Amino acid sequence: MNPEPMEQTNRKNGPPAEQVERMFDSISKHYDLLNHLLSLGTDRLWRRKAVMLMGKHCTPGTILDVATGTGDLAIEALRLGPEKITGIDLSSRMLEKGRRKISKLGYSGKIELLKSDAMATGFPDASFDAAMSAFGVRNFENTLAGLTEMCRVIRPGGMIIVLEFSRPSAFPLKQIYGLYFRQILPRIGRKVSGDPSAYTYLPESVMSFPDNEKFLGLMRDAGFTGVRQKRLTGGIASIYSGFKPLNNHTIKPE
Ligand SMILES: C[S@@+](CC[C@H](N)C(=O)[O-])C[C@H]1O[C@@H](n2cnc3c(N)ncnc32)[C@H](O)[C@@H]1O
Repeated sequence: MNPEPMEQTNRKNGPPAEQVERMFDSISKHYDLLNHLLSLGTDRLWRRKAVMLMGKHCTPGTILDVATGTGDLAIEALRLGPEKITGIDLSSRMLEKGRRKISKLGYSGKIELLKSDAMATGFPDASFDAAMSAFGVRNFENTLAGLTEMCRVIRPGGMIIVLEFSRPSAFPLKQIYGLYFRQILPRIGRKVSGDPSAYTYLPESVMSFPDNEKFLGLMRDAGFTGVRQKRLTGGIASIYSGFKPLNNHTIKPE
């Protein structure tokens, strides 16, 4: 048997959690601004599309937003009318910023942000109806471990959506994207955030991340079924979705 696929899926893909925590703590002040600036505002639209995709399949009462950062996906998910959204993240400063934003918007009764590691959340099995993550999974020290934990904490039949950067393959978007990600984005990021490494890390992490079929394979390995990919903006980002099997039966997406 060729051991390669197992090694591929089990390998640690991201930097150590402490390093990720430090990095996001350091850029938290400018994170929202840079997000909207560097994506030319598309990040908001992508999050909305991800939430709407979930809304097509289910109306979750409780949602876990993994790697919530400053809570933008959690805020967007309020559209689904849940009783409660719990956002978790490693970075205390991102969470502080998120809490302030959520309080200003008057959503503190609906969204709670907690410091926790995606790979070991501490929640009991089947605690949530659904789980989601935007631009977080790529940063996990071990992607498969994080996805497996998301599967564990949602109820059987529950849904997951993951919004992540992917790499476009068609000319000329592939070339423009490569140039923007490697040359332009790190410079703007460095200038605005003052952090020399964070926005070099961003393109590196995107380029080395297992996207498309590889990511769908990881979702299956983590225990999800009915996994799908919806490409956004020519494949610059993708929404991956799937379901936790219900009583060991495969659920077919609508
Ligand atoms: C690019 S930000 C995304 C934030 C937010 N979801 C959004 O849509 O803007 C990535 C976040 O993932 C968090 N993160 C990375 N690894 C994590 C882990 N193992 N557990 C929890 N959060 C993690 C970082 O601290 C950071 O806040």
